[in-house]
Amino acid sequence: MAVINFITQEGEKISVEGTSGSIMELATSVGIAGLDGDCGGVCSCATCHVYVNETYRKIVGEAEKIEKEMLEFDELAKENSRLSCQIEISEKLDGIELIVARE
Ligand code: FES
Repeated sequence: MAVINFITQEGEKISVEGTSGSIMELATSVGIAGLDGDCGGVCSCATCHVYVNETYRKIVGEAEKIEKEMLEFDELAKENSRLSCQIEISEKLDGIELIVARE
């Protein structure tokens, strides 16, 4: 089990407990604003875009090539961007803060 903290563009912090699946699936299951997961998690929409806080960047790890390519098309991409459909929930992510890129 891990507590995943989402920070919306409105500045609201929403903490959700997850055990398995992707961060995007967890976010859409509770209706986090700005995190839609339109493509269902196949890395082709970037509507699950999040920014990973510095403390957790190493733990989350680097994006795969296909994810990096998708992010290149997103004008909101930053150095700490990840597509949350590509991040699997695990206990090592407990307490992570993810800023939702879109409103
Ligand atoms: S849900 Fe579409 S890229 Fe993540």
